[in-house]
Amino acid sequence: RRTDTPRIEPADDVSVHRAAERLRAGELIGLPTETVYGLAADASNTDAVAKIFAAKGRPADHPLIVHVASAEAAKAWAASWPATADALAAAFWPGPMTLIVQRAPHVLDMVTGGQDTVGLRVPSHPVAQAVLQAFAAQRSTPAGLAAPSANQFGQVSPTTAQHVAEEFPDQSLLVLDGGASEVGVESTIIDVSGAAPRVLRPGRVRASDVERVLGRPLGQDTGDAPRVSGALASHYAPRTQTLMLATSRLRMQLRAFRNAKAAQPTRCVITHSFDPEPMERLRCIRLAADAETWEYELYALLRELDQERYGTLIVEAPPETPEWDAVNDRLRRATHGSSPDDL
Ligand code: TXA
Ligand code: MG
Repeated sequence: RRTDTPRIEPADDVSVHRAAERLRAGELIGLPTETVYGLAADASNTDAVAKIFAAKGRPADHPLIVHVASAEAAKAWAASWPATADALAAAFWPGPMTLIVQRAPHVLDMVTGGQDTVGLRVPSHPVAQAVLQAFAAQRSTPAGLAAPSANQFGQVSPTTAQHVAEEFPDQSLLVLDGGASEVGVESTIIDVSGAAPRVLRPGRVRASDVERVLGRPLGQDTGDAPRVSGALASHYAPRTQTLMLATSRLRMQLRAFRNAKAAQPTRCVITHSFDPEPMERLRCIRLAADAETWEYELYALLRELDQERYGTLIVEAPPETPEWDAVNDRLRRATHGSSPDDL
């Protein structure tokens, strides 16, 4: 009989120190960060890192981000630290940004996916900071935590401790509860390992913020970018059929639903620009027309709606402006493979 089950503990001095102890012992923990919750392990311990891949069902060649307490600590994981990294670290760390740099020789292949680069992030969440500091205390070698988002491979990222527990029901996992992640989508990944810095994954740190700090436009993604598992077309997949429709197309579709003669399945729509007319078998959720609100709400909403088993979830396509890059990116992945013809 299985008795393994996750345990959620409010983050305080005691639980933070217990978490650091567990990490030193090669165990996994659920770690709150300002972007999403992570499934963290000692980045220098092969057996511990292997547990992450096993727990998530994640392919072995997908690299992990190493979390550290400060930019100074990050440098210990890099073979070289370009001026662009310095400028971006000064501007956005601690915070929702990951830098890809050339790896130091000691970085495990299992962490980098065998690549010659490593992803580094200094989270700002006070609990993540406290755990990193407790974990690094009394250690003479570089201390870092490998932490992917704490979800099963292919599922949406968790933004609360409860989400983490739901993702790993048979793991004896200590999950620190640090409240709902205030950003709500994963960090912006910026590759500064090559000649021209590039954004590999959009997030709360906007491309325009990066360009302002660097004082020049960013390179185009040429398609030869290193592997980013979040870059798989359908990486963030809810179970419910989910699709995105332009505003006018959505209004048309709603009229068609209303006029339909046959019995209709129950549907859910999420909008930003209008309130659909009430009708039977349609639930409407209107979010403020603001990218940060959508980033904050999106994953928790997809997760909640997925459990309510709607026939279809239809999302009003957000504007195609740079402010909405992260939301559009995640929505494209969540809706990959669904077309309006399926309605
Ligand atoms: O906000 C975040 O970044 C969260 C929190 C927990 O910090 N973490 C996260 O980890 O989203 P994960 O593993 O779900 O996504 C990390 C992404 C993956 O798509 C991975 O391929 C990419 O970072 N990545 C890691 N190292 C890389 C490298 N050396 N080169 C290119 N991409 C890398
Ligand atoms: Mg992930």
